[in-house]
Amino acid sequence: MRVVSVANQKGGVGKTTVAVNLASALARLGRDVLLIDNDPQGHATAALGVEPAHFGLSTRDLYIDGGVKVQDLRIEITNGLHLVPADLDLSTVEQDLADEPRKLRRLLERLAISQMPYDVVLIDNPPQVGVLTFNALLASSEVLLPVDASRFSVEAVERFEATLRGLQQERGHRPQLRIVATGFDLRTRYARRVLEDIDALEPGRRVRTLIRPTIRLREAAQAGLPIDRFDPSSHGAQDFSALAREFEGHDWIIQHDELLEWEELLHGPGPQSPGVHFRAYFPHARKVCVTGDFTDWSVEGIDLRPEGDGHWRVEVDIPPGCYEYKFIVDGEWTPDPENPEQIRNTYGQLNSVLTVPERDGR
Ligand SMILES: Nc1ncnc2c1ncn2[C@@H]1O[C@H](COP(=O)(O)OP(=O)(O)O)[C@@H](O)[C@H]1O
Ligand SMILES: [Mg+2]
Repeated sequence: MRVVSVANQKGGVGKTTVAVNLASALARLGRDVLLIDNDPQGHATAALGVEPAHFGLSTRDLYIDGGVKVQDLRIEITNGLHLVPADLDLSTVEQDLADEPRKLRRLLERLAISQMPYDVVLIDNPPQVGVLTFNALLASSEVLLPVDASRFSVEAVERFEATLRGLQQERGHRPQLRIVATGFDLRTRYARRVLEDIDALEPGRRVRTLIRPTIRLREAAQAGLPIDRFDPSSHGAQDFSALAREFEGHDWIIQHDELLEWEELLHGPGPQSPGVHFRAYFPHARKVCVTGDFTDWSVEGIDLRPEGDGHWRVEVDIPPGCYEYKFIVDGEWTPDPENPEQIRNTYGQLNSVLTVPERDGR
C-alpha cells in the first residue's frame, strides 16, 4: 500500500485537483484507491459530488474518536474509489488535540488499525502546515507537491523542503518527495523559467507528466465529477491518465529500502506476521526483556533471546492497537533505542510507541 500526501502550504496550486483526478485515474487503471479529504474546506469532498448533508462521520471523527476506523466512514464513489469526506468540523482538530502528546500520530494510528484493502491512499491537505498536514506527512511514505506557474512557487518548494527537514530531524521520518507541475503552459517563457528554477532546487524530483491549464478541470470540480467522467476526451483527462501511469511506473515507485523504513514507522517494530518482532542491540547485557501495555507493565516482561552478536530478539503476538513499551536491560528500564517514536509518560520518562496494524490479508 502506498500512502501519498498531496501537500503544499501555498493555496490554489492544484492540490485538490491532483488528489481527486489522480485518485480517479488510478481507480480507472484497476487500483483500489482511498482518498482522504484532510482539509476543512472539504474541496475534495465537493469535487466528488458529496455534500455534507450526505455523511454523518467525517475525517474529524478519525482524529477525535478513538473507536472510529476508516471502514466506518468511507463512502464509495465508484468501483475502486472510496472517499473519507471532510467538512468545516475538521477545523477544530487543532484545538481539540492541543494537549494530546501524540496528536501528530493520530492519523497514522487510525490507518494502522483500520481495514485498508487499498493499493493507494491519497490524502488531500489544507494550505497550511499544521496539525492536520503533519499527521498526513507522518502517515505517508510519499508526498506529491503540486506547483503552479507563479513566481511564489519556487519559494513554496523551498519552504516545503524545510518542513520535510524538520520532520526528519524531529520524528526520524522523511516521505519521498515528488513534484508535479500543474497549469503550466510551456509555450510561455515565464512558465519554462519557473520550471527550470524548481528543477535546479530539487533535481530529479519532478515527474515527467505536466498538467496543462484547462478550464475543463475547473468545470469538472464545479460539477462534482472527476475529469475522466466529466469530459473523458479532454486534455485534463489525458494528462491525469498519463500521471496515473507514470505513478505506477519504475521511475516513480518508491525505493524499497525507503519503503521499509516507512513501514517500520507505520507499524512499529518489525510488523511481519504473525507477531511483532522486537530487536535491539545491547552488546554488554546479560538479560533483556520487553514490557509495556501488552504485559500490563509487568517487571518480568517477555525475555528477548541473545543472538550472539550483541543483538537480542523476540517475537510476540500482540493484538492490533496502539501500545507503549520499554526494554528492561539488566534491571534498567530504557526506551527502544532504534524506535524514533517516543512519548513522555506520567512520570516524565520516555516510553517507546508501538502500533500493531489490523491484518486484512494484504
Ligand atoms: N490545470 C489546471 N487548469 C486550470 N485550472 C486549474 C488547474 N488545476 C487546478 N485548477 C483550478 O484552480 C483552482 C485551484 O485549484 P485547487 O486544486 O483547488 O488548488 P488547491 O487545492 O491547491 O488550493 C480550482 O478552481 C481548480 O479548478
Ligand atoms: Mg485544496
